[in-house]
Amino acid sequence: MAAAVLFLLAVTIAWPALPVCGHSVSTQRSFSIDYKNNCFLKDGKPFQYISGSIHYSRIPRYYWKDRLVKMYMTGLNAVQVYVPWNFHEAVQGVQNFTGDRDLEHFLDLANQTGLLVILRPGPYICAEWEMGGLPAWLLQKPNIVLRSADTDYIQAVSNWLAVLLPKMKPWLYVNGGNIISVQVENEYGSYYACDYNYMRHLRTLFRFFLGEDVVLFTTDGNTEKEMACGSLQGLYATIDFGTDTNITEAFNRQRRFEPGGPLVNSEFYTGWLDHWGDPHAVVDTQKVSRVLEEMLTMGANVNMYMFEGGTNFGYWNGADHDSRFRSVVTSYDYDAPLTEAGDPTEKLLAIRDVITQFREVPSGPMPPATPKFAYGFVTLKKVGNISSLLDIISPLGPVKSDYPLTFEEMKQYYGFMLYRTTLPQDLSEPTPLISPLNGVHDRAYVSVNGVFQGLLERDTVLVINVSGKQEDTLDILIENMGRVNFGSKINDYKGLLNNLILGKDVLRNWEIFPLDIDGAIARGWPHSDHQQTILPPWREPSAGPVFYMGTLKPNGLTCDTFLKLSEWIKGQVWINGVNLGRYWPARGPQQTLYIPGPLLSGSRPNNITVLELEAAPAHLRVLFMDRPHLNSTAGKS
Ligand SMILES: *[C@@H]1O[C@H](CO)[C@@H](O)[C@H](O)[C@H]1NC(C)=O
Ligand SMILES: *[C@@H]1O[C@H](CO)[C@@H](O)[C@H](O)[C@H]1NC(C)=O
Ligand SMILES: *[C@@H]1O[C@H](CO)[C@@H](O)[C@H](O)[C@H]1NC(C)=O
Ligand SMILES: *[C@@H]1O[C@H](CO)[C@@H](O)[C@H](O)[C@H]1NC(C)=O
Ligand SMILES: *[C@@H]1O[C@H](CO)[C@@H](O)[C@H](O)[C@H]1NC(C)=O
Ligand SMILES: *[C@@H]1O[C@H](CO)[C@@H](O)[C@H](O)[C@H]1NC(C)=O
Ligand SMILES: *[C@@H]1O[C@H](CO)[C@@H](O)[C@H](O)[C@H]1NC(C)=O
Repeated sequence: MAAAVLFLLAVTIAWPALPVCGHSVSTQRSFSIDYKNNCFLKDGKPFQYISGSIHYSRIPRYYWKDRLVKMYMTGLNAVQVYVPWNFHEAVQGVQNFTGDRDLEHFLDLANQTGLLVILRPGPYICAEWEMGGLPAWLLQKPNIVLRSADTDYIQAVSNWLAVLLPKMKPWLYVNGGNIISVQVENEYGSYYACDYNYMRHLRTLFRFFLGEDVVLFTTDGNTEKEMACGSLQGLYATIDFGTDTNITEAFNRQRRFEPGGPLVNSEFYTGWLDHWGDPHAVVDTQKVSRVLEEMLTMGANVNMYMFEGGTNFGYWNGADHDSRFRSVVTSYDYDAPLTEAGDPTEKLLAIRDVITQFREVPSGPMPPATPKFAYGFVTLKKVGNISSLLDIISPLGPVKSDYPLTFEEMKQYYGFMLYRTTLPQDLSEPTPLISPLNGVHDRAYVSVNGVFQGLLERDTVLVINVSGKQEDTLDILIENMGRVNFGSKINDYKGLLNNLILGKDVLRNWEIFPLDIDGAIARGWPHSDHQQTILPPWREPSAGPVFYMGTLKPNGLTCDTFLKLSEWIKGQVWINGVNLGRYWPARGPQQTLYIPGPLLSGSRPNNITVLELEAAPAHLRVLFMDRPHLNSTAGKS
């Protein structure tokens, strides 16, 4: 195997001066694998891709072109794109491909820019995205085995791919488009099921809808077991690894599964993701450059993951569950060559310098960073707590149930839900409220008659004390922190999964309120609610989940900005109806939320809504800054 790699080294160093593989030059558009000469062939000529990952679901449509141009100007000839199924099919059977979900518009922009596309349609994508891209409605079947030949899962996957893949077919390179290859599943070998029937079914579907003339491939982690479970005959096996891996050994491993054909690192990690509470991840630029150079020298095809990470807006972040549940932060900056806000970094320039040695980098200047603006402080005022706003945010009203129901049973998949019951008896002493089976997914904010008692947290806080009188109202707001996107625990139901116990009583007789906070805000609440403007501003903050609102006065500018909530604890923010994501400066490392300029108005008041879950600071201020702050776990600025 080492000999094969050495041979590759010898022949590819000479490239591109001497074409060493693929002798038949055809005039027809084609993209294929040359198994003899260990390379891709594009239109019959040897082809090496230098690609970067970018996720249209994490970047506002308005900025897609800007980011693609910057990737092109770095010298990339391809981009790698995930298709998140749950982003397109929020309701089973109803697909959305418009606006920020307009995948074909994205492909068109890439094509106009001169970039080929490596498409990764899943159906599972990982991506640190909510449930790895799988729609949470799949969990309505209680024991569904995701990513396997489970009948209901296969049915749903087949229906989705029957919509998605025919849309993609005209975009295949052979058909005049820019998609050169399509990945089947994603790192399937790292999933416990190892179900070849499932992979065979996917292979059949992909071939049926896309035809025989497209390169289909798989990607797996750099171990024997992962490569064995993730690869399948007829799908070209590729590998992924970062800067701390021995390149020769990794490509030798790929060679054991693909003795001939191009070397491919489908995910070369330029950076890494952050979880709440962990230090900010960074990957050294010099290491990235060095390893990239070595791989390209070997003639390998490389996709840099990520080239721009972007943002987990709304509730789209995923989570990991290894020793405990750990949710991914809102920013997906990833320490990538383009920042979360799409700005070129030193890492980008270093990568461009490496690429210059291998292919012609387009001449002309790198487009500059988009302008940022520090709009300054805005003081918010209190709108009210969840209980006093139920008419507005829970228009459907409660469902009564003796025992708690999950989010999935309630058919509300994301965000927050309120569970209400009464205290079965007087609690004169502080009495433990217990989640005996760790069934709070993921955080429970507990109040008795409007007095905040504290919170329960999955895997870490399973008991708190509460006090009150018999028949007092017990309100428990449950927050879904994003479903697990990797590993064996992706059946990640949300809400109260098991009974809670108060003292010696199992709590029963629940009223469960689905909450459509995003719907209310999209309709203009609370800013359009005239009562709010008649009431004197409530300055005094209070503990427990409370809504706050404010306006950023228009100043003619609509520049990108970063929102800092110093001394606030944890919550969710919306601006002009758009859900920016979660903030949690008390845990960090992320301290600011990215606000793309196009979300702002230069002429009308910009409406800010904050749901603070624990406690707002007395100053009630938020700050719009001109730079991000993503790397502090100290909880202070
Ligand atoms: C589809 O998604 C776009 C945003 O990408 C949104 O504006 C639109 O309302 C959605 N359509 C439906 C029918 O939900
Ligand atoms: C892609 O771009 C090329 C060159 O600009 C153009 O000829 C081709 O029609 C485009 N393909 C599609 C599918 O739009
Ligand atoms: C990588 O592994 C090969 C083969 O095991 C070994 O010869 C080489 O020294 C290693 N390279 C580095 C940089 O550790
Ligand atoms: C919510 O606010 C109302 C009105 O201010 C108050 O009466 C009630 O006690 C509060 N409830 C909670 C759960 O905070
Ligand atoms: C609950 O209260 C009891 C009695 O005051 C105390 O001993 C115990 O430490 C408290 N438990 C928690 C989790 O706060
Ligand atoms: C903010 O809300 C007010 C009141 O509903 C509305 O008139 C205004 O247009 C909103 N601002 C923006 C930028 O949407
Ligand atoms: C945080 O990042 C900034 C620049 O983005 C850098 O100047 C600073 O040293 C970093 N701080 C820590 C603690 O890593």
